[in-house]
Amino acid sequence: MVVAEEQALEQVLAQYRGSRGALIPVLQAAQDIYGYLPREVLRRISLELKVPLSKVYGVATFYAQFHLKPRGRYIIRVCLGTACHVRGGEKILQRVKEVIGVAEGETTPDLRFTLEPVACLGACGLSPIMMVNDHAHGRLTPDLVPKILDQYQ
Ligand code: FES
Repeated sequence: MVVAEEQALEQVLAQYRGSRGALIPVLQAAQDIYGYLPREVLRRISLELKVPLSKVYGVATFYAQFHLKPRGRYIIRVCLGTACHVRGGEKILQRVKEVIGVAEGETTPDLRFTLEPVACLGACGLSPIMMVNDHAHGRLTPDLVPKILDQYQ
């Protein structure tokens, strides 16, 4: 663990030490610090809050907001909702996978991209659509994908 991160975690734990109901806020704070929940951090939280490790894992895996693996700097969300599906969302997803070389739910080894297919992004008029972090890219064709992803270094 990097020292600054360790100190930040220590502060969070000091605030909640011994309080069992604090598991979710502590996990949220730890994830804000590390970007995900490393195994040793979960072990530490279990010890400090006196919550069994199995319970800590149970909560961390139950909620979609928690991530047990490192994530990329850029999260690519390819919409596979109905409107996007009808207009070729699957082909967009396929092209993204070819360009970045990882499957759904995975992160590139250089931690540049994480790929997450999602249901409707709420902009069906722009379908098919993908988001890269907060940026929407609509009316996509597979040929546009490499150029768009090139912008995110
Ligand atoms: S189905 Fe893709 S934005 Fe709605």
